[in-house]
This record gives sequence, structure tokens and C-alpha cells, in this order.
Amino acid sequence: MQTDILITNIGQLLTMDKKGPVKGSEMNDLPVMENAAIAVKDGRIVWHGPADQAGNFDADKTIDAESRLVTPGLVEPHTHLVFGGSREEEMALKQQGVPYLDILKQGGGILSTVRSTREATYEELLKKALFHLDRMAMHGITTVEAKSGYGLEKETELKQLKVAKEANAKHPLDIVTTFLGAHAIPPGYKENPDSFLDLMAELFDEIKAENLAEFVDIFTETGVFSVEQSRRYLLKAKEKGFGVKIHADEIDQLGGTELAVEVGAISGEHLAVASDEGVRKLASSDTIGVLLPGTIFYLGKDTYAPARKMIDEGAAIAISTDFNPGSSVTENLQLIMSIAALKLKMSPAEIWHAVTVNAAHAIGRGDTAGMIAEDRAADIVIWDAPNYMYIPYHYGVNHANTVLKNGEVIYR
Ligand code: NIG
Ligand code: FE
Repeated sequence: MQTDILITNIGQLLTMDKKGPVKGSEMNDLPVMENAAIAVKDGRIVWHGPADQAGNFDADKTIDAESRLVTPGLVEPHTHLVFGGSREEEMALKQQGVPYLDILKQGGGILSTVRSTREATYEELLKKALFHLDRMAMHGITTVEAKSGYGLEKETELKQLKVAKEANAKHPLDIVTTFLGAHAIPPGYKENPDSFLDLMAELFDEIKAENLAEFVDIFTETGVFSVEQSRRYLLKAKEKGFGVKIHADEIDQLGGTELAVEVGAISGEHLAVASDEGVRKLASSDTIGVLLPGTIFYLGKDTYAPARKMIDEGAAIAISTDFNPGSSVTENLQLIMSIAALKLKMSPAEIWHAVTVNAAHAIGRGDTAGMIAEDRAADIVIWDAPNYMYIPYHYGVNHANTVLKNGEVIYR
């Protein structure tokens, strides 16, 4: 058979070929093949199997993996990709021990990025988003979720979503967009957060009609939106046909994890201080826990999500950078894999599920991303690593050797 690309001499291949989302102890059962090869045609995987059968395929181009590890492209299920400016001056406040929510209360934090994002032109935001996408691609990410939430007014929220949509068209990576208009309470609405939520909900129809977002998200947190407000807002979004997500139990334990399960959210995100009851509910639901240990690290806290308890009780877990200009400033999901090993006590096998198949399910891409299988898009990473355990082990640097998206080499 004539193919476009043949990847030969793969030392270890993680196919992640499992019906997901993969829950609980199943996350430790990793589909691994030693000495494998992959054939790609028209951007899709047409075959994978033992290296000694690769001779059945002719290819325009052969890539010798030189016994390296090969996996599906990483799936990044939670980012705040589109924003203006940066917040390096907040680092000093953090060092002085000023809490994240206090910085926000004083008009900094998210609200500082809101000002920069309102000021930025569409073109500036697009250029910046493409830059960050390049960084993600070079670190092995091939599919990424992007939230709005730095507009907090109709015009700028739509601007962010349109930038994400154009970035999806312009950049090789696939971008899945989420409307996070309910990210903070903007000036002028402090006394009346409900009317702000009503204002954001007025955008649902337009966002749906123009296909600007698949999901609606809210920041359920002290000083932001209550569980009650979040429930009402998310149910309205569901009625309009959106999938829903929640920034839940990140800093204060409000019961956001329970709410995520109650409203049938596709994912509950953060869950750092989830209650035992929340963990139990999560484990017996279809909601995926998207854990963001890089955020806890970067905020200088020690309240890491109870990942062990979640997995041991049977939950499906994904992990993510939470890439944003305030609480987690990194595009490197490999670094988060190391933090997940060290702080969430997840095993390497669990971690690989969390950045492939489960992350794909957390953004509604379970059928297309996060897996090496016949007829799937050829989203493939060759790593400068001998085996899958090596990536979380050797931390803080980029191990991606070659990244393919839809069968094209986008980084080498
Ligand atoms: O997921 N917690 C709310 N939103 C982001 C942070 C956004 C920011 O600080 O700019 C998060 O941590
Ligand atoms: Fe976030």
C-alpha cells in the first residue's frame, strides 16, 4: 500500500486506544506496544502495528523514530488562550502573601487582564493567540480548549471568541471554544451580579447561531459567583443547547464539584478543595474532573486536588495547564505532568490517560482526538524519551522531538 508517511522503529507506542472516558483503576491500564510502526495517508492513520510489518507499506517519507516513545498528540482541555497584556507585576504581591482573591477584589488579577483585553485590537489578540498556540504545538499539544472571559462585556467577549475561531482556521492546532463571560464581576455590577449574568446570558443565542462556542463555563468562587447563581446560569446555557463546564472549588470549598455533577457538566475544573461528598458524586457520574495542579503550584498553595481519592473512588480525571496570564503562566503540559506525578500522586499511566483520551472527552473530542487508531487524524508526537514514564520524570524541559498534526510535521 502506498502511504504518505511511515513512522518506523518506534521503541514504545502508547495507542491510548480505549473507549473513554477512562475511569478509576482503568486509568492504570495503559495500552502499550513495543517495537511498532505507524502509516499515515491523507492526514489520517491508516495502520499501526508491529515494526516488522511496516515493509508492507511504501511511503513518500519515512521517519525513523530511533527507538523513541511515540504517543497521540496531547490534548489540552482548559486554557484562557486569548487575552491582552501580562501580569508580571503581580508576582511581587504574591511573594508578600496577598491572596489571589484579594488581588481580584482590589481590581487587579482577572480584572487587570480585562482592561488589557478590552484595549487590545482584534489583530493584536490574534497575533498573541497564534504565538501561544505555536508554543503549545512545540510542546506536543495538538488539540486545545480556549475560553473567553476577559471581556466581561458583550463586545469584547465576542471579540475573544471570534479571535479563537479565526486562530482555529489559521493555525494547525484544533481549538475548541468555551464562553466564560461569567469569569468575574466587572466594575459597575458589584451590587448586582445577577443582572451581569443576565447580560452575559443574552449572548447565548448569538454565540450559538454563529457557532462561536460549544461550551459555557462559570467561575463559582467566593466574591465571584455563588453556587445558586451558577446553577441558574448554567441551566439556562444547557437549555440553549450548550455543554457546560465549571471552575469549581478552586480556592474555597463552596460545593462546585457537587454542582458540576448535579447539572451534568461535561467537566468540573480545578476541584482543588472538593469535599468528600463532591468526590463521591464525581466518581459515580459522567462528569470528568479536570485538575490543574500547575495553578496550585503557581499560586503558592498546598491544597492540591484529592486526585488519589478521586481515582481510587472511580472518577475519570484529566489534567491541564490552565494556561492564563495570572494563575498559571505556562503552555508546557509536560511540566504539569510532572507536577501531577509529584503533587497529585498520579501514576505515569494515569497521567497519560489524563492528557490524551480523558482530556479529549472533557472537551467533546473523545471520538476524534487523543488516540492512535485507524481512521483517526494523524496527531502524533515522537518524544526524546525511551518510555512513557520518562516524561513526568524529567521535568521542566521540552521533550517533544517531532509533532505531527493531521499528518503534517508542524514541529521538529
Ligand atoms: O482558572 N480562576 C479563574 N480563572 C483562571 C485564572 C484567570 C486569571 O487569573 O487571569 C483560573 O485559574
Ligand atoms: Fe481556568
